[in-house]
Amino acid sequence: MRGRLVAGNWKMHGNRAMVRELLDEILDQAGQLVSPPAMAVIPPAVFIPQVAERLAGSPVVVGAQNVCDQEGEGAFTGEISGAMLREAGCSYALVGHSERRALYAESDELVGQRAVAALAAGLTPIVCVGETLDERDADRTEDVVDRQLQAVLAATGAERAAELVIAYEPVWAIGTGRTATPEQAQAVHAFLRGRLGAVGADITIVYGGSVKADNAEALFGMDDIDGGLIGGASLKADQFLTICRAAAG
Ligand code: 13P
Repeated sequence: MRGRLVAGNWKMHGNRAMVRELLDEILDQAGQLVSPPAMAVIPPAVFIPQVAERLAGSPVVVGAQNVCDQEGEGAFTGEISGAMLREAGCSYALVGHSERRALYAESDELVGQRAVAALAAGLTPIVCVGETLDERDADRTEDVVDRQLQAVLAATGAERAAELVIAYEPVWAIGTGRTATPEQAQAVHAFLRGRLGAVGADITIVYGGSVKADNAEALFGMDDIDGGLIGGASLKADQFLTICRAAAG
């Protein structure tokens, strides 16, 4: 179901005291938002139980930054299964974040398997796609995001596409302060929606990459941009809530 969504990807930041303080500040104001978007925070896995306990009964849900591609239990050192994340209180799991793809060599196929495992556990995968600057300069943006998207659809089956959230995150805009213009982002979102076929109109597609309080409204005002996946600005309650307000329906 297509809807407005703002998710804060905390990446590898935080400690228990910071988590407590940030959630206190977010919850203080989140209940007062008018027509709020769906809101999620995505902490490092070790903080998920603390976050889930604090968010219980609130309008904000919790997600995981990754999920094991294997279902069930087994000898997969360092991985966390979808069932474990679900039991810990997660609703969403990121798959294929560009930092996973670039720094930990996650392939399109592995990302697809992670999406399958997330769905099997009852988690909504947030499938991240995006091109590097070299790929954009070589006019390959559509090829790259389509390849990444089709690998996931091939793994899940196109009939499950409607259960996915897509995040378009151009690699050159992540953590750089260099945001895609609303028009650049809109063009890729419209392309992705088209490539999702008949269910494209029902799918939530969010933008990520240097979204801040002062540029969120212009981005979210575009026809095919349904919200944001926020990195740095999600670690500051005021910024995060301003961004949520910009995505309000
Ligand atoms: P920044 O908002 O810090 O650019 O990070 C975006 C991102 O990677 C979210 O997943």
